[in-house]
Amino acid sequence: MEILDKYIKAVNNGLAAIPYPSEPDNLYAPIRYELSLGGKRIRPVLMLMACELFGTDYHRAISPAIGLEMFHNFTLLHDDVMDNADVRRGKPAVHKVWNENTAVLSGDAMQILAYMQMSEAPDFCRKEVLDIFSKTALEICEGQQYDMEFESRDDVSEEEYLEMIRLKTAVLLGGALKIGAVIAEAHPSDADRLYRFGENIGLAFQLKDDYLDVYGDPAVFGKKIGGDILNNKKTYMLINALRLAEGKDKEDLLSWMGAKEYDADEKIRCVTDIYTRVGIKELCENKMWEYYKKGTDLLKEINVEPEYIEPLLELSAVLMEREN
Ligand code: IPE
Ligand code: IPE
Ligand code: MG
Ligand code: MG
Ligand code: MG
Repeated sequence: MEILDKYIKAVNNGLAAIPYPSEPDNLYAPIRYELSLGGKRIRPVLMLMACELFGTDYHRAISPAIGLEMFHNFTLLHDDVMDNADVRRGKPAVHKVWNENTAVLSGDAMQILAYMQMSEAPDFCRKEVLDIFSKTALEICEGQQYDMEFESRDDVSEEEYLEMIRLKTAVLLGGALKIGAVIAEAHPSDADRLYRFGENIGLAFQLKDDYLDVYGDPAVFGKKIGGDILNNKKTYMLINALRLAEGKDKEDLLSWMGAKEYDADEKIRCVTDIYTRVGIKELCENKMWEYYKKGTDLLKEINVEPEYIEPLLELSAVLMEREN
């Protein structure tokens, strides 16, 4: 999406210009490494677009936007340790290039750098911005904790899953937009609508991430296909496959979930085949579109000229069609 280029460029330049020491190298090199791997930068872009939605120059929100992307990248360092994931953005994860301790500590440093950027928000709204950010950050920890606990449960409900992904993923998109709105001095009811738009788009976003973890193209996705299946992640797909599978499929699914020693590729192939047979692909796609619709309907209720919401509508559509 061409209209995103100016925002992405501003964020990347800002990330590259953050002043931090060069020593100890094993603390800071992983940060530079992670930030150099690219990434879609959608959270800072959402924040900058939110600012412009209300007619405010996006530069006013640039430091918080950079901080938010730094924060997101910190969560990825820790998440890859927690998920035992070796590949990130098509390259070895930080804990593989260095080690787990490094991923933890460099991640911690990134979180501090994120706060430093966030507190560069304009004086008139600094406290509110930091409050939104802190609430969001804590909720992400809650979501990540549920995500881990659910791995060893086999009775996770769809409702529990949706709340878990709301916390671990959707609130960060909502928070990004709300911070942008606050910096642009939007009316609180519009800032709130924008937050809920982000939450719904965020739910669709995580549903799609889980979907791509199964059905994505390994050459494009940038993460190992089947990682969630190997971890017994209670995704929308697994929860519904457990509900819909019958006879041998159900038996096999339960046995793969309990298996201790197995061939990883075989588990991924067999579970994926069960998903496909019980119609999970379509079910998951429909759920994604349901949240997309809820989100974009909320966006249309915001009190701005209708053409002002076009870029956010377009970005939402792009996120639905993404392959990585
Ligand atoms: C990955 O986020 C973590 C999730 C919440 C699914 P992104 O898909 O935005 O990752 P990058 O930053 O583009 O690599
Ligand atoms: C990640 O969810 C959410 C956070 C990083 C907070 P996932 O574990 O599905 O993200 P990926 O697939 O590793 O990017
Ligand atoms: Mg992960
Ligand atoms: Mg995870
Ligand atoms: Mg994932």
